[in-house]
Amino acid sequence: MDRFGRRFEYLRLSITDVCNFKCQYCLPDGYQCESPRAFLSVDELRLIVESFAKMGTKKVRITGGEPSLRKDLIQIIRQTAAVPGIEQVAITTNGFKLERDLDAWVKAGLTSLNVSVDSVDPRQFMQITGDGRLQSILNGVSKAIDMGLQVKLNAVLLRSLSQSQVPEFLAFVKHHNVTLRFIELMQTGDNQAYFDSEHLSGADIEKQLQDMQWQRKTKAQWAGPAKVYRHNDYQGRIGLIMPYSKDFCADCNRLRISSLGKLHLCLFAEKGLDLRPKIAESLKAGDPTILMQEIQSLMGQKEATHYLDEGYTGATQHLAMLGG
Ligand code: GTP
Ligand code: 5AD
Ligand code: SF4
Repeated sequence: MDRFGRRFEYLRLSITDVCNFKCQYCLPDGYQCESPRAFLSVDELRLIVESFAKMGTKKVRITGGEPSLRKDLIQIIRQTAAVPGIEQVAITTNGFKLERDLDAWVKAGLTSLNVSVDSVDPRQFMQITGDGRLQSILNGVSKAIDMGLQVKLNAVLLRSLSQSQVPEFLAFVKHHNVTLRFIELMQTGDNQAYFDSEHLSGADIEKQLQDMQWQRKTKAQWAGPAKVYRHNDYQGRIGLIMPYSKDFCADCNRLRISSLGKLHLCLFAEKGLDLRPKIAESLKAGDPTILMQEIQSLMGQKEATHYLDEGYTGATQHLAMLGG
């Protein structure tokens, strides 16, 4: 719990900052990823999850970069799901391995899946992500729905595309049992010009949904910041992630750890707090309490909000470094 009384039962664990897509809103041109050797090892990841679980964490979301680029992903899912107290193991992926590897992920203990799908039009998808595998990604999504997984799709709202993005997604959600979330583009350290031209408020879309008789759903357990709407004529749901709206942070329920072992108390926190020295001490002593005490004491530094509306972008250069 933090000093504002918010509880954090949800940990977002980034396991790599490498990605094989080049989404125009995310990675800057020429971005140098970290060397894979620098990333948290499976032993370090296990200790982190055990320590958080002992303090009350119940859900872990594995993020990247693109987490499925790590060869030991299945082992990471399996060991996370095996930690006592962890009830949900989720992943956020660009989906390029979904069709092939989903069975193995689920067998290892995966319980839910978020996939970044910025457009359901192959040409537009290629334009945004630089990747031509939309059909395979959507096949993977259908497979996940058929397996009974909870599936969410993420689409970053882009001003120049929204005229077609929004109606095409509405048509998609009519026949697919997914929650499609439109995400407001967030300003990071390196996308100022892009942000100025492409940022679009989700409020107009919310108004459009309300005019079409979409109904607001009550928040589910461990629900994130999305406002979710449902409609009787649609199999799926539409969510809006609007970090620029007032009170977005009031029910913040998540902490983040970067692939280099830094604790980020907010997506836009000033800087990551290096846990590696205490992780090493804990591993050496075979005692998670050393790491747990460190995390407890760092929690005092968590701020009330992100201050994005004041033009503050913190140390967050781009979201690939933290997995959003
Ligand atoms: P679930 O609620 O577990 O489904 O997760 P989620 O929607 O938070 O996860 P996902 O990884 O799919 O992230 C979707 C988008 O929401 C990303 O762009 C995130 O950066 C954004 N997001 C998630 N949590 C926060 C948050 O606490 N603050 C801000 N500003 N954005 C967030
Ligand atoms: N603003 C909003 N969402 C972003 N994502 C990456 N960068 C940004 C940004 N600047 C999203 C991706 C992915 C999720 C984890 O973060 O689309 O779905
Ligand atoms: Fe929490 Fe920071 Fe996200 Fe706000 S921006 S909801 S404080 S992580």
